[in-house]
Amino acid sequence: MKALIDKLEKKRNLTNEEFVALISNRNPELDKYLFEKAVVIRNRHYESDIYIRGLIEFTNFCKKDCLYCGIRKSNQNAERYRLTKEQVLDCCKTGYDLGFRTFVLQGGEDAYFNDDRICDMIKTIKSQHSDCALTLSIGEKSYASYEAYHNAGADRYLLRHETANDEHYKKLHPLSMSLSNRKQCLYNLKKIGFQVGCGFMVGSPYQNAEYLAEDMLFIHYLQPQMVGVGPFIPHRDTPFASEPAGTLEMTLFMLGLIRLMLPNVLMPSTTALGTIHPKGRELGILAGANVVMPNLSPTDVRNKYLLYDNKICTGDEAAECQYCMQHRMEEIGYSIKVDRGDYKPVV
Ligand code: SAM
Ligand code: SF4
Ligand code: FES
Repeated sequence: MKALIDKLEKKRNLTNEEFVALISNRNPELDKYLFEKAVVIRNRHYESDIYIRGLIEFTNFCKKDCLYCGIRKSNQNAERYRLTKEQVLDCCKTGYDLGFRTFVLQGGEDAYFNDDRICDMIKTIKSQHSDCALTLSIGEKSYASYEAYHNAGADRYLLRHETANDEHYKKLHPLSMSLSNRKQCLYNLKKIGFQVGCGFMVGSPYQNAEYLAEDMLFIHYLQPQMVGVGPFIPHRDTPFASEPAGTLEMTLFMLGLIRLMLPNVLMPSTTALGTIHPKGRELGILAGANVVMPNLSPTDVRNKYLLYDNKICTGDEAAECQYCMQHRMEEIGYSIKVDRGDYKPVV
């Protein structure tokens, strides 16, 4: 199996069968071998710099019904909220003073936030913080909408593909949603000129090594600038309430493989990883990730943006999370960089 890791490092891709073999045979020795390489590759491009993104969860209203998600439309127990423009701007101001130079506006697919409102928010944030990058993560929209957001000044867009296998996608989503549309959105975003992020949950219900191999091949095909990978964690009010969570080990392994395949990708060590293990985010960095996304949302709404159970950092102020994260990164020999943290293309 080590030969396959060497091959991935050299060729930056494997065949479907080779990915399946690697993923099915992961073991602690292979992890060690992979992570050592992943860290060297990441450090070659980004040294020991960790980029921070200030996450603003600005609405938990969603018209979609993804079966895994705690803020899905059908969850009657979710206490809904949306932030005002002024609240979002306050979050940015707080974040800016703490050293954030990227803001991520994330939310459910909330019809209240039509294109005019989103564009207005983008323009105001960019006019107040012209040295910052703005990332959107607000789901599937039309080509024209994405184009309008880009023209308004948004720089990046996160849209996890969730799974690259059609059958698997159907088991995770209602019939009204399709993988082909999700992929088309990603192609559109790329064509428009966004820095694009795809990604998936590790350990989502019905996932297997074959599906993970397909995820790797799709990521290779898309060549995104960012990849978001974190463990699936069940939420008590969803149809997947009693499904097991994804494991720390497999999530770290996938992060390592992605680093070898896309040496300069921007890859977060996610809050979900920190939720399944107290040192999850540190371990994610040590497996090849190079981004962390502390929360800037106001404390009174944080415990309402619950995608999964037991989410961490829901009671902490933005500054507390930021200092906590700085400390955690320093403890493992890394440092948080005050920088937009743009993608660095291979030269
Ligand atoms: N609504 C937008 C979308 O779906 O792209 C953005 C927000 S959505 C909550 C962000 C991501 O959360 C999803 O892409 C999904 O991978 C992740 N997520 C949702 N439910 C989750 C769960 N139960 N465990 C882990 N991650 C989850
Ligand atoms: Fe809505 Fe996104 Fe959750 Fe799906 S994953 S229900 S689109 S917030
Ligand atoms: Fe939020 Fe540690 S990162 S409290």
